[in-house]
Formats: sequence, structure tokens, C-alpha cells
Amino acid sequence: MRLNNKVAIITGAANGIGFAAAERFIEEGAKVIIADFDEAAGIAAAKRLGSQASYVKVNVADRQSVKTLVATVMEQAGQIDILVNNAGITRDAMLTKMKEDQFQQVLDVNLSGVFHCTQEVIPHMIASGRGKIINTSSVSGIYGNVGQTNYAAAKAAIVGMTKTWAKELGRKGINVNAVAPGFTETEMVKKMPETILEQMRSVVPLQRLGAPRDIANAYLFLASDEASYISGHTLHVDGAIMM
Ligand code: CAA
Ligand code: NAI
Repeated sequence: MRLNNKVAIITGAANGIGFAAAERFIEEGAKVIIADFDEAAGIAAAKRLGSQASYVKVNVADRQSVKTLVATVMEQAGQIDILVNNAGITRDAMLTKMKEDQFQQVLDVNLSGVFHCTQEVIPHMIASGRGKIINTSSVSGIYGNVGQTNYAAAKAAIVGMTKTWAKELGRKGINVNAVAPGFTETEMVKKMPETILEQMRSVVPLQRLGAPRDIANAYLFLASDEASYISGHTLHVDGAIMM
């Protein structure tokens, strides 16, 4: 039970990787707040996961909504030990065709969302003298990806923000790390053209796409005491697709 008595907020946990993380954290003793915009999926996810899970609706792009999330969690659980900034969206288009709102929406959720959640949670972690922040980057942010100007920009920024926060918050007892998943079997990847997805599959040395649980296990490690001397790191969990 690596997360016994810990309270974790996982954004975007109604679906995909975030849901797998919620399941994995609960298996290790945590109480998990599923913080997601998708109300129907969030309620269903909390029901599936049982009494250790609860759902709070949030739009991470909206500061006021994040403030309400954090106040609700503090009222209900009294502490926040772990924040996983996992919520994310894609609005893929070639640079020549990308619209201003496609660019901005991805930056609002994938970058400003991480800033909002961390900034609202951090006073509570500082007060308790401990905490774990895990941010979700991507193979696209590390190496770039065709059709993802907006997304790659946000996911690359996550790496810089993670290092900055590790430097600022280390002396407060807070670890800040990122995970950079490769192509992982969720709804996000299902939106890709099948021919391109097939190309991706064929170049992964481990010969498969990631499973949500592969990424959840990396989140779990970084959230656990086993990773207490790791901070500012971006862990690539991508089947060695690029090195
Ligand atoms: N890698 C290599 N080549 C790619 C590519 C990719 N990821 N995406 C597109 N291309 C190529 C196409 O094969 C095509 O090549 P040809 O001109 O030789 O035929 C060319 O780029 C133009 O592509 P389209 O004809 O599809 O152009 P479009 O304007 O109709 O659509 C697009 C552009 C929306 C970007 C579409 O190609 C697409 O959805 N591509 C996939 C983008 C992608 O990889 N998204 C990742 C989503 S999953 C995710 O984001 C999670 C994560 O963190 C990795
Ligand atoms: P998903 O689409 O299955 O789940 C994303 C979740 O985020 C959904 O439940 C959605 O409702 C929620 N969400 C979206 N916008 C939100 C907002 N404004 N506020 C609150 N919640 C919001 O996606 P997946 O694949 O599980 O992605 C999880 C994270 O992993 C994302 O940050 C994504 O960018 C990243 N990632 C995914 C990869 C993949 O191949 N699936 C690869 C690399 C990174």
C-alpha cells in the first residue's frame, strides 16, 4: 500500500490514462478525487471505483472552477498530498491550417490548466510541508509531431515548468516531476487517422502502443515515497519510440 492515507487529485481522471491512474492509486490505498470536465463519465468513474473515489466537476482552463475544486477537496478530505495534472486535449491541424482558437484552446487546457491547478493546490502542500506534483507531458512535446504545433508547444512547456517548480518548491518538501507518454490506447489516439497510427505502431521498439496502466504505473512511482529523491525529472514512458 504505497499511497496509504494519501489524498490525490487527478485531473482528467474520468477517462483514459487518468482513470487508470485513479484505479492504480486506489489499489495502493489512496483516496482519489476525479477532477474532470466530463460530468457523465466522471460520475460513472467514481461509481466504478467505489468509496475511495469521488468526482468533482472542473474546467482546468478556468481559474474560478479550479479554486472551487480545491476548496471542495479541502473541505471534504482536509488535505491534498498528490496532484496529477493529467487533463489534456488535442486540436490537431497542420501549421498552414491551424486556426487561432485551435491553438489557444490547447494552450488554455494543457498549459494554463496545469498552472492553475498547481498554483491553487500548492499553498496547502506548503502548509503541510510535503507534496507530490506530477505533470503530463508527451512524446510530442519532447520530439515534436506533425499536426501538433499547439499541443507540442504546451507539452514542451510542461518540461520547463516542471524543472522550475522543482527548483522553487524543493525546499518546501515538494517533489515535482513529469511523465512523457508515447502513443497510448485511449480516446485521444483513436481520433488519429488509422494509417498514421499504424506507422506509429510499427516504429515502437517494444512493438505496441502504451496501455493506460503503463502510464498510471509511472505516475504511481513518482507519487510514492520510493521517488522521494527524484524531482524536476521527465520520465519517458513510450516503448522507446524515440531516444
Ligand atoms: N506523422 C507523419 N506524417 C504525418 C503525420 C504524423 N503524425 N500526420 C500527418 N502526416 C502526413 C500525412 O501522412 C500526409 O502525408 P502526404 O501529404 O504524404 O499524404 C500529410 O502529413 C498531410 O496530412 P493529411 O493529408 O492528413 O492533412 P490534413 O490537413 O487532412 O490533416 C492532421 C492533418 C489533422 C494533422 C492529420 O494528418 C492528423 O490527424 N494527423 C495525426 C496527428 C497526430 O499524430 N496526432 C497525435 C494525436 S494523439 C496525441 O496527441 C497523444 C500524444 O501525446 C502523442
Ligand atoms: P482522454 O481524452 O482519454 O482523457 C482526457 C480527460 O481529460 C477526459 O476525461 C476529459 O474530459 C478531460 N478534460 C479535457 N479537458 C478538460 C478540462 N478543461 N478540464 C478538466 N478535464 C478535462 O486522454 P488521455 O489519452 O487519457 O490523456 C491524458 C493525458 O495524457 C493528457 O494530458 C494527454 O495530453 C496526455 N498524453 C496522452 C497520450 C496518448 O497517446 N493517449 C500520449 C502522451 C500524452
